[in-house]
Amino acid sequence: MSFKTTGVSVTQKITSQHGEWSSRFAFILAATGSAVGLGNIWKFPYITGENGGGAFVIVYLLCVVAIGIPIMIAETMLGRRGRESPINTMASLATEAKAHKNWRYLGWMGVIAGFLILSYYSVIAGWALSYVGKSFVGSFSGEDASTISAIFSDLMNSPVEQIFWHSIFMLATMLIVARGVKSGLETAVRFLIPTLFVLLILLVGYAMSTDFYKQGLSFLFSPDFSEIDADAVLTAMGHAFFTLSLGMGAIMVYGSYLPKNISIAKTSIIIAGADTLVALLAGIAIFPLVFANGLEPSAGPGLIFQTLPIAFGHMSGGWLFGLLFFILLVLAALSSSISLIEPAVAFLVENKKIARTKACIVMGFSTWAVGVTVALSFNVWSDVSIFGKDIFNLLDYITANLMLPLGGLCIAIFAGWIMKPEHSAAELDLPDTNYFKIWKFLITYVAPTAVFIVFVHVIGII
Ligand code: PFF
Repeated sequence: MSFKTTGVSVTQKITSQHGEWSSRFAFILAATGSAVGLGNIWKFPYITGENGGGAFVIVYLLCVVAIGIPIMIAETMLGRRGRESPINTMASLATEAKAHKNWRYLGWMGVIAGFLILSYYSVIAGWALSYVGKSFVGSFSGEDASTISAIFSDLMNSPVEQIFWHSIFMLATMLIVARGVKSGLETAVRFLIPTLFVLLILLVGYAMSTDFYKQGLSFLFSPDFSEIDADAVLTAMGHAFFTLSLGMGAIMVYGSYLPKNISIAKTSIIIAGADTLVALLAGIAIFPLVFANGLEPSAGPGLIFQTLPIAFGHMSGGWLFGLLFFILLVLAALSSSISLIEPAVAFLVENKKIARTKACIVMGFSTWAVGVTVALSFNVWSDVSIFGKDIFNLLDYITANLMLPLGGLCIAIFAGWIMKPEHSAAELDLPDTNYFKIWKFLITYVAPTAVFIVFVHVIGII
């Protein structure tokens, strides 16, 4: 099928020029693949540890329900109505709503956020890749906490090793995205998510067998609100966006490949539910091990790399288990990284008329270059500080805490205030008008107000 990609009335577009998901299940898998990743298994535990545990988890869960799910529905809906890269989708939906063309800059911000996130995401995924190798050669077997910590420090202190694995990961991302929507993205996630679930449940089983299971659970679920300040709330909210892949067009571009007859609301709830479950399972598996081995919950980005290998090194069958776990972590990261780069690639293909492969090479190489500076920020450039943060923490803060919530805020404003309700109602096609009213209320008032209040608090105005 061929049609013009820009300037066409959005209502005419039946499918995307880039292809479509083959089924509802395929979309759920791909979007869950985007959502479930390092954010759940690597980031959620360490930021929960840094922010005092239970109270942080509650704020995060509230953000997922009251802000994340309505925005996920909105973002998917905008994508399916526009059927183009987020930049062109926002431009054509603005035309349809007789709003200003500048809404396309929302798409631009998303493309930039995705680019910046991927640059550090790929470095961390590289750590996981190097742990696949270390598991394979049995580096962890029988080792105690201090040896495992030393293995992690060695990796941190080696720019060459980090850059090597980061390069391999970026290459893998580029190869998959170059193959396109169906053959590349869909096949990659089909077996990944179910296996990841099973492994996490087995790990939880192991954590239950330690004497510190209760202590881990209580750290995760007993709230102490004195631990929480405005910045922790911002981190929790930012993480809700990060973990659900919201606010930067990843879910929008996946929505643009969604066939017409599929319920957006139902799929969004399933995806958010699965994502939250994975994060909580990861937390339940990790904190008992943190306490059992006298480690600090606030150990930072190295937390899972310093705890889980201890478990793998001691449990029976731990060699295979550890190997499988890190392979799956890499695959989960891959199914997210492809969605971080897809909005930019779709845009280059649509507007610059270049082939998908070339678009992947251009984007992949630039992302890789920024990633190299991130790898260096853990060692030779660890003294480089911008706004009081090293390069990794700066990129993480700007993207997850600022750009994604800002993007989400704009999506909520567009879906709630700018888009004609008859258009959003038609696109969502909910079975009951009350459901539509609930979503409309959440997206028009609750989500934007919540994001706005958190921003204002952090800036220190209130
Ligand atoms: N949701 C992914 C994770 O939790 O690892 C990260 C991510 C993917 C963030 C795609 C944003 C995005 F657009």
